[in-house]
Amino acid sequence: MAHIRLAVTNAGDGPPVVFIHGFPFDHALWRHQMALPGWTSIAPDLRGAGRSPSDGEYSMQQYAEDLVGVLDQRQLERAVFCGLSMGGYVLFEILRRFPARVRAAVLANTKAVGDTPEGKRDRDALAALAEREGAAAIAERMITKVVGRTSQAERQDVVAEVRAMMLRQPVQGIVGALRAMRDRPDSTPLLSSIAVPTLLIAGDEDQVTPAAPMRDMARAIPGATITVIASAGHVTPLEQPRAFNAALGAFLAGL
Ligand code: MLT
Repeated sequence: MAHIRLAVTNAGDGPPVVFIHGFPFDHALWRHQMALPGWTSIAPDLRGAGRSPSDGEYSMQQYAEDLVGVLDQRQLERAVFCGLSMGGYVLFEILRRFPARVRAAVLANTKAVGDTPEGKRDRDALAALAEREGAAAIAERMITKVVGRTSQAERQDVVAEVRAMMLRQPVQGIVGALRAMRDRPDSTPLLSSIAVPTLLIAGDEDQVTPAAPMRDMARAIPGATITVIASAGHVTPLEQPRAFNAALGAFLAGL
């Protein structure tokens, strides 16, 4: 498998933190995390998202190799990785295959278990919908699931921002990501072997990856801690950036 050169947004100065966006998002998910004092924020667009190329193979392994390629291009031996949702699935793959490249891990709004047979069928149905009706149909299907009820009631700007991010994703990348998620392995057996400092961040209104299973996940990872952010759905870094950055900043300061 050959990795591709990803479009990457960088900001700041200091040791690297690589931010891995979820689905169907891009680097802009992390726009509030691009000014972390004392750290370089590196926010790639995964293949098929944002400004990165969308042709080629899609799998968690391939996403992981592309991201390790980002470190290699910068001659970085390792980095802190922060992955949200599908970004967390990719981070599990990096921890499995390239553990020496991970200085510390932040798992935001994600889960370790793989898809159920019903979940796999839903992925295929969503991929067919994307091929038939484009990104707009996916955005309409997902927007009220990913944005928390508080943001939906009080933050129409956040709702509009998340919708716009979903609308600009190429269909090929949407379909590829759905197949990669459908076929991803169960990462539960990995949890007890994670040997780097780990922070979990959950949203108390998250319907996609609820806080309760994330607490179980935190208990399964040696030494991990968890922060549950109030009034946040699935896109915590955009919905509650201050609380997200406070949790992340405290974790990074302790490394
Ligand atoms: C994501 O936010 O990356 C996706 O909703 C995750 C998923 O569908 O499993």
